Amino acid sequence: MNPVRIAPSLLAADFSRLKDEIQRVEAGGADWLHLDVMDGHFVPNLTIGPPVVEAVRKVTKLPLDCHLMIMEPEKYLGIFADAGADSLTFHAEAVAMDYARKWKERGWAMTLPCKTLFDEKRLGACLDAIRGKGKRAAVAVNPDTEAECAAELLPKLDMVLAMTVWPGFGGQKFIESVVPKVAKLRKMAPSIDIEVDGGLTPETVKAAGAAGANVIVAGTSTFRSPDPAAAISALRRGCEAR
Ligand code: DX5
Ligand code: ZN
Repeated sequence: MNPVRIAPSLLAADFSRLKDEIQRVEAGGADWLHLDVMDGHFVPNLTIGPPVVEAVRKVTKLPLDCHLMIMEPEKYLGIFADAGADSLTFHAEAVAMDYARKWKERGWAMTLPCKTLFDEKRLGACLDAIRGKGKRAAVAVNPDTEAECAAELLPKLDMVLAMTVWPGFGGQKFIESVVPKVAKLRKMAPSIDIEVDGGLTPETVKAAGAAGANVIVAGTSTFRSPDPAAAISALRRGCEAR
C-alpha cells in the first residue's frame, strides 16, 4: 500500500508571511507542500508563477508538489522544474484537442469525455518535459472526467490527481460523487500514488482514503487551522483508517 502523504496547499496560507506559514506546516508534520499554479485561462483565477516556487524552494526541505492549472502545460513544465518543483501535475483536459473554446462555453467546467480526444503529441511533450528534468510526473482529472480517459496514461505516471472540487479556488465543498472514480483508479493502478485535492477535511478524507487515495491535499483545513499540526494528524488518521 502506498504511504499516506499530507500535502498542505499553499493557496490557503497568509501570503504576507509565506516563510513562517510554510515552516509551521513543515514542523506540523506535512509530507509535501502543494503549490497551485493558475493562469486565468484554464481556470478563472490567477495565482503564483515560477519566481514564487523558486522562493519557496529556498525556505523548505519539503518536496514541492506543483499543480499546474494552465493551458499549454508543455511550454512551462521545464520552467517549473528548474524553479524547484519535485513533482509536476498537468491537467488531462489541458492537452485535449481543441478544447479551450468548448470549455469556456461550458463556464470553466472542462471535461474530457473520452481518451480519443487527447492530443498525443502534446501529451508526449508534457511527459518528456517532466522526465527530461528527472521529476515525478502526474496527470490531474477534473470532477467530470472519467477514470477511463486516463487508463493508457497510468503506467507512465507516478501519480494521478482526482480533483474533488472544480479547480480554481480554495475553500470549496468536497464533491462526494468523485469517490467511486478514486476507487476505479486505484483498481486500475494499484501501485501509483492517487492524490485528491479540494474540500479535504478530517471528515471527508475518510471516504477518499477508503477508496484508495493516499496523497491528501488540504489548504483550508491545514493553513487556516489554529493548530496545523493537529489538523495534519487528523487528516492522516482519517486517511489511514482506509
Ligand atoms: C483548487 C486547488 C486546491 C485548493 C484546495 O483548484 O487545486 O489545491 O487549494 O483548497 P481547499 O483544501 O481549501 O479545498
Ligand atoms: Zn491543487
